[in-house]
Amino acid sequence: MRRSEKESDVLFEAIRTRRSISLHRLDPEPIDRALVERMLEAANWAPTHKRTEPWRFVVFDGEHRQALSAAFGEAYRQIATGDDFSEARFQVLRDKVWQAPVWIALGMARDPSLPEWEEIVAFGCAVHNAQLMACSMGLGCKWTSGGTSIHPHVAEVTGFAPDIRLLGFLYVGRPTCSWPEGQRRPPGAKVRWAGNP
Ligand SMILES: Cc1cc2nc3c(=O)[nH]c(=O)nc-3n(C[C@H](O)[C@H](O)[C@H](O)COP(=O)(O)O)c2cc1C
Repeated sequence: MRRSEKESDVLFEAIRTRRSISLHRLDPEPIDRALVERMLEAANWAPTHKRTEPWRFVVFDGEHRQALSAAFGEAYRQIATGDDFSEARFQVLRDKVWQAPVWIALGMARDPSLPEWEEIVAFGCAVHNAQLMACSMGLGCKWTSGGTSIHPHVAEVTGFAPDIRLLGFLYVGRPTCSWPEGQRRPPGAKVRWAGNP
């Protein structure tokens, strides 16, 4: 299908202005489930080698976030042993789930017949689709992939089967800030046309 110039301009703007928005800049008020479903439908259109479609999602909203709160706390307890443990940090990790109304657990169901990198790339495309769709609907979201977000205890609490690798969470909510500006170094420094110096 050939797209009009106007459509490609709209698409480019959606890509250029997609932003990650941090937790403290989100409104904890619930968002419509249909918006989340649309995000995940967009994710499902990502490309994959051999059509493996390795993305799996578990959506935590409302009181279901309680289980995540406890899991993040427990994961931190297991990571930060002895003097590394901070009660304040423990509380931050337990409380953060309430700041965003929706937390989407990101699980990769890898097809072992493909190199893992191909599945990870396809997975990233899916999450990117979801983020683009969220932003185009005026929602803020961010992929979080730090230690507790991928911890085996947290993975267990999500209910993913043991062979599914937890690659973090996408939290989603309505932004309370003005839409942030992005920054990128120019593509020229990263692109060379063969034959040019
Ligand atoms: C695979 C992946 C993992 C990420 N993990 C984190 C994270 O753990 N914490 C965080 O603050 N941002 C994380 N981000 C978001 C990046 O910080 C963000 O994309 C980057 O700053 C560029 O900003 P933009 O998304 O607004 O263009 C992650 C992004 C990707 C693609």
